[in-house]
Amino acid sequence: MVTKDGKEMRDMIKVSAPATIANLGPGYDLMGMALDRPFDILEVEFNQDGEDAISVTGVGSETISNALNNASLVAGRAVLKKTGNEKVKLSMRLNKGVPPRMGMGSSGASSAAGAFAVNELLGRPLEPEALLICAMEGERASCGAAHADNVAPALFGGVIVITDYSPIRVCRLNVIEGAEIVVVSPELELAQEKTKLAREVLPKEVPLSKLIAQMSAFASLIAGITNKDLKLLGSGVSRDVIIEPARSVLIPGFKDVKEAALSNGAYGCSISGAGPSLFAIAPEGEGIRIGKAMKDAFGSHGVEAAFSTHKCNKEGARVV
Ligand code: HSE
Repeated sequence: MVTKDGKEMRDMIKVSAPATIANLGPGYDLMGMALDRPFDILEVEFNQDGEDAISVTGVGSETISNALNNASLVAGRAVLKKTGNEKVKLSMRLNKGVPPRMGMGSSGASSAAGAFAVNELLGRPLEPEALLICAMEGERASCGAAHADNVAPALFGGVIVITDYSPIRVCRLNVIEGAEIVVVSPELELAQEKTKLAREVLPKEVPLSKLIAQMSAFASLIAGITNKDLKLLGSGVSRDVIIEPARSVLIPGFKDVKEAALSNGAYGCSISGAGPSLFAIAPEGEGIRIGKAMKDAFGSHGVEAAFSTHKCNKEGARVV
């Protein structure tokens, strides 16, 4: 394959991009963290003739579009467009490891993988922020909003704060260390457009008093991460007064599950991304105990749930 600059490129690549937790409580659309697993795996080939095509296998693949609006394909095409290689066609094989619609950044992982893979195949013409803009197009295709709080950590790894959207600017914070991240996922009937719906329930306006409370929670979150103070970090995570109250009504037993996490010693607990999973920041070695307590709390509301424990992942999308 030869790009428009006449460079000879490799024709095929296999990449992975991790699950992520967006918002981290009060950081709606502004904060996200990469997890150590699971991953989406994407193989991409340049296709000189023919059409764009994608096949999807793996966890929940039956619910993922394999048409031109697939997040990986949209993000990959955005890179081709930005680099003047529109004529190139893509052939993709996406193996989903990140479960769709659980609040673990499934579309973010697929979008990050699509943009990252095509940029690698082209010899890395795009700088990180230009690459992020392309990955965000995958999110837009998936849920109607080009938010960056899943795609940014899925691309770059670690904990990311978005410091501006116009133009997009991101900043990498300390990786969360000395804690386990517990993710508890309830088995609920979910609409196909779950994230879009979970965004529609949010208030359009908030009183100043709530804004101040939210800013203090966000400040605690940032200061806790920066100062490696897990208690402060956790108190910030747990004090979302705007998004969590609006969304928690969509999660049966939410209040008791959160209470189970906190009363069992979690530093903090909130909704993972747009839900319905919850996440808790647990002291090291306590993740399984806290996960069980949260699962049982769901059980007392007649809701089956599964939990997993994680570490914050320094690494984002990479060639495998
Ligand atoms: N910030 C996004 C939201 C993340 O909460 O809607 C989920 O995709």
